[in-house]
Amino acid sequence: MKTMVSFLLLLLAAGNLPGQTSVTTTPRIIHQNGRHALLVDGEPFFILGGQAHNSSAWPGMLPEVWQAAEKLHLNTLELPIYWEQIEPHPGQFDFSLVDTLLTQARAHKVRLVLLWFGTWKNASNHYMPEWMKRDPAKYPNVIGEKGDWIDSPSPFPEATLQADTKAFSSVMHHLAKADPRHTVIMVQVENEPGTWGSVRDYSPAAQKLFEGAVPARLLEPAVLNQLPHEASSGSWREVFGKNADEYFHAWSVASYIGKVAAAGRQENALPLYINVALRDPLSNPGPGNYESGGATDNVLAIYKAAAPAIDILAPDIYLSGNEKVLKVLELYGRSDNPLFVPETIPGAVYAKYIYAVLAHGGIGFSPCGIDDNGRDSPDSVITARLTPVGEEYRTLAPMMRELAKWAFEGKITAVVEDENHGPQTIDLGNWQATVNFGGFGRGEGLPPNAQPVGKMMIIRLSEDKFIAIGTHSRITFKPTGKSSGRPWQYLKVEEGHFENGIFKPLRILNGDETDWGGPYFGNKPRVLEISLVLR
Ligand code: DGJ
Repeated sequence: MKTMVSFLLLLLAAGNLPGQTSVTTTPRIIHQNGRHALLVDGEPFFILGGQAHNSSAWPGMLPEVWQAAEKLHLNTLELPIYWEQIEPHPGQFDFSLVDTLLTQARAHKVRLVLLWFGTWKNASNHYMPEWMKRDPAKYPNVIGEKGDWIDSPSPFPEATLQADTKAFSSVMHHLAKADPRHTVIMVQVENEPGTWGSVRDYSPAAQKLFEGAVPARLLEPAVLNQLPHEASSGSWREVFGKNADEYFHAWSVASYIGKVAAAGRQENALPLYINVALRDPLSNPGPGNYESGGATDNVLAIYKAAAPAIDILAPDIYLSGNEKVLKVLELYGRSDNPLFVPETIPGAVYAKYIYAVLAHGGIGFSPCGIDDNGRDSPDSVITARLTPVGEEYRTLAPMMRELAKWAFEGKITAVVEDENHGPQTIDLGNWQATVNFGGFGRGEGLPPNAQPVGKMMIIRLSEDKFIAIGTHSRITFKPTGKSSGRPWQYLKVEEGHFENGIFKPLRILNGDETDWGGPYFGNKPRVLEISLVLR
């Protein structure tokens, strides 16, 4: 009888009463022809996300987090969960805060991505429980080349690995029991793991391994041939030369996280990812200019080999300028790595990259620091932070499932305004679309956008039919290829929105709204269904 009562209480906590659909299929990532989709409730899902500030996943701060989440119209909230709160004493686990997050997310009808602030948080051990911080001998940090103490946990001590493995497994086990309907759709393991202040650990234990042989897994040709190397076996220095220190640290950190993730995966099959503190994607900088040991673009092959239980290596995008940001999307959107941007800067300039991520076949996008973090900022600051992305999500949310499917099928192309505000073209097979950015009137050119905020996304429904979604821009079509130079017309241009997968027209655009250089898109996103015909 007691067992039945506790089971019913558990179902109640999970928001399920007997007779309701109490279990859904576990979210998972599928791969096809080098493209990826995140399946939630069995269908492709695109994360229209937002991440709270680091210290906001506490009951007293959540009302402000939910205010921001509502203004963003997000479908997924990224929230940290804290090792120091979950395991205040060795082996004693407290999931009360996790359960509060689950309950409130269900009440707000949004999904969660939980961020395991465990061994690493921005390279440091600051979220380890007090009992670990008080025992640096058992849970040591990295030692620098000069014997200096580095504010970054060492990936070598077995005690640290065992503690994190046990804690993370307990979290995943709890979620398997407390969240059968999968409010949580993905989990981040650690946070921007790696080390600032030293390219690797120079402790005696680390040095002994560094002077030993490179692990066989890394010497397999499919892996080794992705990395510059000077030999196909031997010590780290013999094989990787000047890159040996950095590659050794990446392998060590990735192997540690891979073991933590694999143990968590034993308890719960939710997709797992790592977020990455990037290095400059264009200048190939040496170590010391970025967090060593993280999944930077030059060591992705090492992470993939060392941590197969991690599904996604996900770039946190704080770089500026189209050239760098678009390069990052290209580097991380790979046939072996789904593209997911778990963090970027809130505001209008970065909102445009939602379209670029979708066009890359990505699975999600999320600005970081969406709540006011107890600052009591003026409304103008909050509006500037949230409205640009919020307007996008409000437009895209009703068609999220379609967008996720079109992204998986490779049907989406996008252009985003760069710093010179110049026009860009999109190849659509029989048609070419030219996108001009700026404010527009009836033909006369108004001043360009004050900031490069313009964007255009085109979904190919058929050879001559498209969905166009954009802001701060104008789109002009012309026939190309074998039809180049032929006369053509708009068959129909309808403005509207999607509802349960169906396009609901608001009006037909014609006359001034299409004749003066093509349909224009103002400050708020517009959805147009456009059919073209050759004469
Ligand atoms: C990246 C981290 O992942 C976040 O938790 C936060 O610290 C931001 N940096 C702040 O810039």
